[in-house]
Amino acid sequence: MTYEDKLAEFQTRIDAGEKVETNDWMPDDYRLATLKFIEMHANSEVMGALPEREWIPRAPSLRRKMSLTAKVQDEVGHGQLLYRVAEDLGKTREAMFEDLIHGRTKFHNVFHYPTEHWGDVAIIGWLIDGAALVTQRALLDCSYAPYARVMKRICSEEQLHLRHGEDITLELANGTERQRWMFQDGLDRWWEPIMHFYGPPSNPDKDVLLKYRVKSKSNEELRQEFLDHYVPRILDLGFELPDNGLHHDSESGQWIHGEIDWDPFWKVVKGEGPRTEARLSKRRAVWDHHRWVREALSESIWKAA
Ligand SMILES: [Fe+2]
Ligand SMILES: [Fe+2]
Repeated sequence: MTYEDKLAEFQTRIDAGEKVETNDWMPDDYRLATLKFIEMHANSEVMGALPEREWIPRAPSLRRKMSLTAKVQDEVGHGQLLYRVAEDLGKTREAMFEDLIHGRTKFHNVFHYPTEHWGDVAIIGWLIDGAALVTQRALLDCSYAPYARVMKRICSEEQLHLRHGEDITLELANGTERQRWMFQDGLDRWWEPIMHFYGPPSNPDKDVLLKYRVKSKSNEELRQEFLDHYVPRILDLGFELPDNGLHHDSESGQWIHGEIDWDPFWKVVKGEGPRTEARLSKRRAVWDHHRWVREALSESIWKAA
């Protein structure tokens, strides 16, 4: 069988909705694109824990502290699960982490921004996790079976994160003037990064991930799904969205966003976001500081074997 024959057979399987397992034959561009995608997802879980972790010591009550701690712990756990899936595609976890902390690979754009106050914790828990859940639900249908399986578990935990975020949001929305201001101020700063969340419009002819059904929805479809779900809820709570062009299209029933300025997004992609370097240097410091633990553990495992 030639490479072309195998490729045609693989594409037929994908188009028929079949799933691919780790040991199945797969074309090189499938393996590489899937690895890169899952690696970036894992990086984002691990880096995404940092902006929220900063607020654990400053949580306004013990109950909030506990739920935020549990959420941060979950996110790091998601990173572990995803690195495990990615490593089966041919790159060690060590190499993935080294590449992340030295800025050679990417993590999600929303985690390059500062958190200024408790209102940001509400925004992250409700809207960022909400945006992530829209993507992650779409991945339940992913053609790479181990990734789809792990997404099942992650999505169920993400539901809890959403409740946590919703609960803080409702508390702020029903609170004092200062509490309502905190949510609105967070919204004003986070709305643009949230619009960037799914990335610029997809080009289905060039997107290998769509061709191989690793992703089943385009960036615009995901963004639209998010807008239609969240915009009415945010407006119902009496908050304003910082987008003059945002309007409801009665014909399609959809919420249409105004023009998106992609310059800040591309800056973040180049590693020049407002907190990119600070967060990476934190991860680098922890990685170096805990090197002795990894070495001691691998040595004792080696001896035990
Ligand atoms: Fe997560
Ligand atoms: Fe989450």
